Amino acid sequence: MDALLGHDERYEMADEFTGLVHKLWASWDADALLADKDTGTYVDHTKVHVVDHVGTYFKVRGPLNTLPPPQGSPVICQAGSSERGREFAAKYAETILAVPTGLERMKEFRDDIRARMEMYGRNPEDCKILFIAEPVLGATEAEAQDTWARMNEPTPANIERGLMGMSTVTDIDFSQYALDQPLPTDLSTNGHQSSLKNFYTYGATLQDVAMTWLHHYADESLVGTPDQVADRMAEMMEFIGGDGFLISGPMSRHYISQVCDGLVPALQARGLTRTSYTHEHLRDNLLEF
Ligand SMILES: Cc1cc2nc3c(=O)[nH]c(=O)nc-3n(C[C@H](O)[C@H](O)[C@H](O)COP(=O)(O)O)c2cc1C
Repeated sequence: MDALLGHDERYEMADEFTGLVHKLWASWDADALLADKDTGTYVDHTKVHVVDHVGTYFKVRGPLNTLPPPQGSPVICQAGSSERGREFAAKYAETILAVPTGLERMKEFRDDIRARMEMYGRNPEDCKILFIAEPVLGATEAEAQDTWARMNEPTPANIERGLMGMSTVTDIDFSQYALDQPLPTDLSTNGHQSSLKNFYTYGATLQDVAMTWLHHYADESLVGTPDQVADRMAEMMEFIGGDGFLISGPMSRHYISQVCDGLVPALQARGLTRTSYTHEHLRDNLLEF
């Protein structure tokens, strides 16, 4: 492609694509595979169906040229919460990655997706909405607060990393604006529209916005000992209505061990996360908990 397609048109294309791959995954009946060595028959061809899709963006005869995957279809994960993104998610997503935006808006987002799913004839329980979270953990509360304070130091390198991330997802060059001024009010993007909308809630000046962006998965209330953070995560989910978090953060061995050896056992002790997998496949495990 010579240029990026328009924002909503990309979702139109994704919509047609996802509908089409679902048709392909469904093009083999469950008992189509014979693998009969005696007769040399691999499949019962009457149980494998031509798709004959002719759409705006794709033209596919089908059927799927391989066996459908063990779950029938892979789990569909979506991210991006613009109006068009929400609509796409409600139609197809089985799990959604969502950016934390404060409890009220997080609850509104989940309620909205569930209502839209019902309009598509789907059961809202068939999609797990996972808010991205970056807990800041320490053996003591003071240690965690120290880490949090360091993360938020507006050093030139931190500010630049913030601006860089903001520019990456919006294709707007934020280095052209003054750090001590508010964001221009007339910005628009063909990139992440929901992210740009969030920037306007991140602080009074561009520098504040950049520093908030840098740790926008972190939340001041998720700073503390594993027990404190686990309690807070429970409170947040109680308010939002359910589903869960997807933990993000610095991919260091230290952080992974703080989460896996500290936070996860604290969550398990409260019955808030599993201690083993019940099912063989991702979808069943995801929807179970
Ligand atoms: C938290 C988050 C994670 C994302 N991860 C991916 C990804 O892994 N792959 C990808 O192609 N796009 C990813 N995107 C981009 C979205 O799929 C989408 O193109 C973009 O967010 C547009 O969002 P909008 O609907 O808010 O305008 C991600 C977006 C968000 C907000």
